[in-house]
Amino acid sequence: MINFIPLARPDIGDEEIALVVETIKSGWLTTGPKVAEFESALSEYIKDDNEIYSVGLNSCTSALFLALIALGIKKGDEVIVPTWTFAATAQVVDWIGAKVVLCDIEEDSLNIDVCKAEKLITDKTKAIIPVHIAGYPCDMEAIDILAKKYNLRVIEDAAHAIGTSYKNKKIGNFSDITCFSFYATKNLAMGEGGAAVSKDKELVEKMRKLSYFGINKEAFKRYEKAGRWFYDIEEIGYKANLDSIHAALGIVQLNKLDKMNQRRREIATFYRENLSNKLTFNEDSGEHYHTYHLFPIRLPQSVKRDDFIEELKNNNIGASVHFIPLHLHTFYKDRSNNNFEVANRVFNNILSIPMCSAMSDEEVKYVVEKVNKIVG
Ligand SMILES: Cc1ncc(COP(=O)(O)O)c(C=O)c1O
Repeated sequence: MINFIPLARPDIGDEEIALVVETIKSGWLTTGPKVAEFESALSEYIKDDNEIYSVGLNSCTSALFLALIALGIKKGDEVIVPTWTFAATAQVVDWIGAKVVLCDIEEDSLNIDVCKAEKLITDKTKAIIPVHIAGYPCDMEAIDILAKKYNLRVIEDAAHAIGTSYKNKKIGNFSDITCFSFYATKNLAMGEGGAAVSKDKELVEKMRKLSYFGINKEAFKRYEKAGRWFYDIEEIGYKANLDSIHAALGIVQLNKLDKMNQRRREIATFYRENLSNKLTFNEDSGEHYHTYHLFPIRLPQSVKRDDFIEELKNNNIGASVHFIPLHLHTFYKDRSNNNFEVANRVFNNILSIPMCSAMSDEEVKYVVEKVNKIVG
């Protein structure tokens, strides 16, 4: 019998372990040279025909939160968020006292429906947070047109989309600020970690300061021989800095990222070609580089989703649902009366099956065999 195949597991090897050990032995555990090295490598990886600046943070959630503050979004403003996302995308808006305006999604990609988003704009709308679900990019051209027309700031939730390209340009080159997650299950895994990137150096430096109590950047050098004991709190800030141990993991993972994403695409191709034709899959137009953070499948009406997940579990296969739309959660359901026709329809018959670069061919074939058998 095959061992349990989880929905995702990190692809960590000896190189990551060696650099983490080296970092621990160096004695410098918190934000320092390893974080700077990771940030430069990330900027270099993402940049297209313009410079990109990066700040390493302790999560994508922190990146989204600090991005809103850095862009001046405040209490009373409205921010458009797709209903099909994780709690983080919306809760950061609540944290700053702004109003979350949930929007329906496109049927094929599960990404925000930009036409529907336009109908939600009022004179209080100040920003939109598109989420690149499962690693497939949102319609960035349409979002750009919308943002220019209504003077909106765009913060991309790219938690699923490190390495994703939209029309041959990597995600990270399009909007005001792009936020990545390096959580344990993500395509680039640190355990906990994240980053914000932008073409605007000042914005990134503002976020860096906000990530450490509003203290000027000299603070991280104050224990070095050449550092000064003096630091100045220039504004109110938070505690969201990335540390060196996680950054060390990130440096090696970033080096392997293209290979790991390619493996995910290989698995996705195998799934698409061999899973039952009673199932339907998310869009992959070929126009963009999809990095398959997740592989959602949609069941025929005749199959009950919850029973299907149980049956997968009985066969040693992990599965989950990404996502329970936000408007169906207790906290958001009374605060939103928009039309979520697509999200409601899709939610009833969708689930994610195992997808990660560490899966063996044997595991991938096993998943296909069992899924097809259960679908019938
Ligand atoms: C779409 C989306 N946004 C944001 C996050 C938050 O990421 P983090 O755990 O790095 O804060 C997640 C986490 O899974 C996510 O799926």
